Amino acid sequence: MPLPPGPVTRPSWRNLLRLRREPLAFLPALAHQYGDVSAFMVGPVPIVLLNHPDYVRDLLVTHEWNFVKGPGLERTKRLLGEGLLTSEGELHRRQRRLAQPAFHRQQVETFASTMVDYAVRTRERWADGQTVDVLHEMMRLTLAIVGKTLFDAEVEAEAGEIGAALTEAVESFVTFASPITLVLDRLPTPRSRRFARARARLDDTIFRMIDRRRALGSARDDLLSRLLQAQDADGGGMSDELLRDEAMTLFIAGHETTANALTWTWHLLSQAPAEEARLHEELDRVLGGRLPALADVAALSYTEMIFTEAMRLYPPAWIMGRRVVTEHHVGGFRLPRNAVAVASQWVMHRDPRFYPDPEVFRPERWTPEARAARPRFAYFPFGGGSRLCIGEPFAWLEGVLVLATIAQQWRLRGVPGHRVVPQPKITLRPKGGLPMTLARR
Ligand code: HEM
Repeated sequence: MPLPPGPVTRPSWRNLLRLRREPLAFLPALAHQYGDVSAFMVGPVPIVLLNHPDYVRDLLVTHEWNFVKGPGLERTKRLLGEGLLTSEGELHRRQRRLAQPAFHRQQVETFASTMVDYAVRTRERWADGQTVDVLHEMMRLTLAIVGKTLFDAEVEAEAGEIGAALTEAVESFVTFASPITLVLDRLPTPRSRRFARARARLDDTIFRMIDRRRALGSARDDLLSRLLQAQDADGGGMSDELLRDEAMTLFIAGHETTANALTWTWHLLSQAPAEEARLHEELDRVLGGRLPALADVAALSYTEMIFTEAMRLYPPAWIMGRRVVTEHHVGGFRLPRNAVAVASQWVMHRDPRFYPDPEVFRPERWTPEARAARPRFAYFPFGGGSRLCIGEPFAWLEGVLVLATIAQQWRLRGVPGHRVVPQPKITLRPKGGLPMTLARR
């Protein structure tokens, strides 16, 4: 069986360079030129891009046992350790079982009023005509929500510092690290020193939250209490280090992605007056000036379609990679052992076979009928299979409630002359933030 087709004759450093410098152009071009399974070499390692929903299902669900997250995660592990996002095998299964109850829909729904409360704080802090960095504002908001709901802690005041540390940590990641960068990471270069400082700053907040909860002693219902209880019940099975890793993972995974999704949503809305007007019509009709609450979410269907469409065009998790454990066959091609299989939300979500006029922001793509006519894995902002995002119900609820609460009072407008450029790091962020001007409705 042949290897997948691709630019194999090009020197591999040129592939790596293009992948590093302009992955958002390189990957779609690869899929366009070579089809649903394509490959290129990075050093001795074939990287295989799977670009059909059936093949993504194969990777994430049907044959997931034949793939591991693997060494690609080494850099992420330096920040997140062995938390849910990065651990594998038995450790992952055990920790996932432990955390899962805190993320069931009914549990997550109890967070609705907190989500609205914090969105209200944001909208009340804003002034008409003011220009703000919307990415920063959304990070601050989602950070406060995660701090309160999962850790019962007030962290909003620290948001500036935490945000800066997080940006520093994220900026120092490159998506595809070569063996050389991994070695360089261990040397005291300015970049690795900046990363160490950022990690220490984030650790400081996490350890403070853990200490405070231990001191309080009483069992509460938030996630951190559950993890602490599990640690006790285990007779020390979960080390302090692992507790730190889980808390850090949820703290970061629980706000960075949602903040990016919301930021892109404001950007898209500012360029789509008809869709924005329809959103306002829905909010005025359903809420009649009241604050949104859990009971309104089902009726805010257009609001949800807008959030869905925004994550199609700008998926915060824009690529996922797995290492092949034993030789695997997909679409008539051979994926050798240790090859890296990649599925990219960025590429799939803009595939004209599933989304005609893919560049156009069109929330109507997400009516129940249109959705049902599309393969499941033509849209996978939250991944799939046993590693499906544990926070998915949390993110949907938060996305809809925050959008509704803020759009009820504010329109956000782009700043003339500012070019919005997606920056594909671990998550897809607008490069340099997103300045927007606030206009009261
Ligand atoms: C729009 C928001 C979000 C997006 C787009 C997103 C996306 C994803 C994706 C794609 C994965 C799978 C990664 C992989 O398999 O390689 C994932 C995993 C994960 N996400 Fe999210 N996420 C979001 C919000 C959240 C929230 C709100 C939380 C927590 C409160 C969270 C916590 C996690 C955790 C812990 C994992 C690892 C799950 C596991 O492997 O067992 N995420 N997320």
